[in-house]
Amino acid sequence: MAEILLKNKITNSTNVLLITTKFVNEFGLPDKVNDYIVAQLKQEDKKSLTYNYIGKYVSILIIDPKKDRAALLEQVRRHAATVADGVNAHKGAEVYIYNQTRLSELSLAAAEGVSLANYQFIHHKPSQKNSNTLKSVIIANTNVNPTKVNELNIVCKAVSRARNLVNEPVNILNATDLSNSFKQMGKEAGFKVEVFNKAKIAELKMGGLLAVNAGSVDEPTFTIMEYKPKTAKNKKPYVLVGKGVVYDTGGLSLKPTPNSMDMMKCDMAGAAAVGCTMYAIAKAKLNIHVIGLVPATDNRPGFNAFAPGDIITMMDGSTVEMLNSDAEGRMILGDALHYAKRYNPELTIDLATLTGAAMAAIGTSGIAGMGTANARQKEKLHASSFNVYERIAELPFWDDYNDLLKSDIADQKNIGGPYAGAITAGKFLEKFTNYPYYHLDIAGPAFITARDGYRPKGGTGVGVRLLFDFFKNK
Ligand code: BES
Ligand code: ZN
Ligand code: ZN
Repeated sequence: MAEILLKNKITNSTNVLLITTKFVNEFGLPDKVNDYIVAQLKQEDKKSLTYNYIGKYVSILIIDPKKDRAALLEQVRRHAATVADGVNAHKGAEVYIYNQTRLSELSLAAAEGVSLANYQFIHHKPSQKNSNTLKSVIIANTNVNPTKVNELNIVCKAVSRARNLVNEPVNILNATDLSNSFKQMGKEAGFKVEVFNKAKIAELKMGGLLAVNAGSVDEPTFTIMEYKPKTAKNKKPYVLVGKGVVYDTGGLSLKPTPNSMDMMKCDMAGAAAVGCTMYAIAKAKLNIHVIGLVPATDNRPGFNAFAPGDIITMMDGSTVEMLNSDAEGRMILGDALHYAKRYNPELTIDLATLTGAAMAAIGTSGIAGMGTANARQKEKLHASSFNVYERIAELPFWDDYNDLLKSDIADQKNIGGPYAGAITAGKFLEKFTNYPYYHLDIAGPAFITARDGYRPKGGTGVGVRLLFDFFKNK
């Protein structure tokens, strides 16, 4: 992260990212440097160039203003990520964004790319000497709205917090720790946080959450967050639900280690996105009433861990034949989605690292989305997803898929057949809803094994920028 500032001043002795449609030397580079840049850009019709000038880092990006808007914004963010690296390599403390185009949102996208790319998770590595020197990104344009700069800072901070939560392993962040971090964020940003302990969860008969927790020494938690400004535009609240499996071993249906269990500290990425979105919404004081629900536990094979074949009674009274303890996310989410009914929501959105099938279908580039939300709600979500480039790929949600969940001895099974695994997971969850509902399976983009532009290796914080944009545009 780096702080984003707005200043209408630029000098020739600073690190610069210049965004332009055609290079014009408006910031005092000496003729020699100017001539060099012009000559270089002519060569092979180059679209970007970096130049080190008296120890300063200058990066020029030539954009095509006619390009698709979402793709253009993303191109700028990704280029800006390389600038963050360049400035850090030069031990620079600041970088100016100088946008010569009329598209003021490109300045914001550039600042966002730099700030998000500057993230580091190094507090467990005190010996690390090369922590980033870059501290501030300065937007050197007056046509950028200060409110937008403020919101961007908030959202980058929220993404960084979500990444931190995902990157903390389960020996450091268990369900109780996760709830405590939500309490902390509630205090800082100004939203209400209530945490149910195991006794309260048992009293409420959250059978799904208790079943998943049965193999663990650590207690489950159920966190309720609420942000309700007096001036809220919506009568009925929006409800966000996040999968908070702080670690998924698969339970008795144990996962293999390589490329599977070894990444499963990320299984609370949905919960992190929900908590950090609440943080961002409250900090930015958006005029919107939102409730966040997070059922949390680890999934382990100890003690009386639920055994494949068990029949579980969920909070709504329905029964589930649990045939695979690795399909645990839907068990805890089913209870949370049932709990959400009491709010009579305008729309409920859940975020969950739910299925390997979603990852197999679209990889790490996007989110698998599906649900019963109305066309307008879906359209808005999809538009936001392209604005921030956390793109949603819509999967079908046909009722045929329910057949795959039929059980001879219970209301449904917790696994479908060999195909359409992401969809059957969504159809399982739908049974616990009686309101407009949208399911975001973030298994692919939540955690990546190699850096990708402004997304660092590890937790990406996916979902926060998407939801903030969605609520901001409400
Ligand atoms: N947490 C996993 C899904 C996952 C996979 C998240 C890869 C992130 C990356 C989930 O609990 C799971 O194990 N799902 C099973 C469901 C199956 C048993 C029906 C899966 O996808 O294999
Ligand atoms: Zn699992
Ligand atoms: Zn899981």
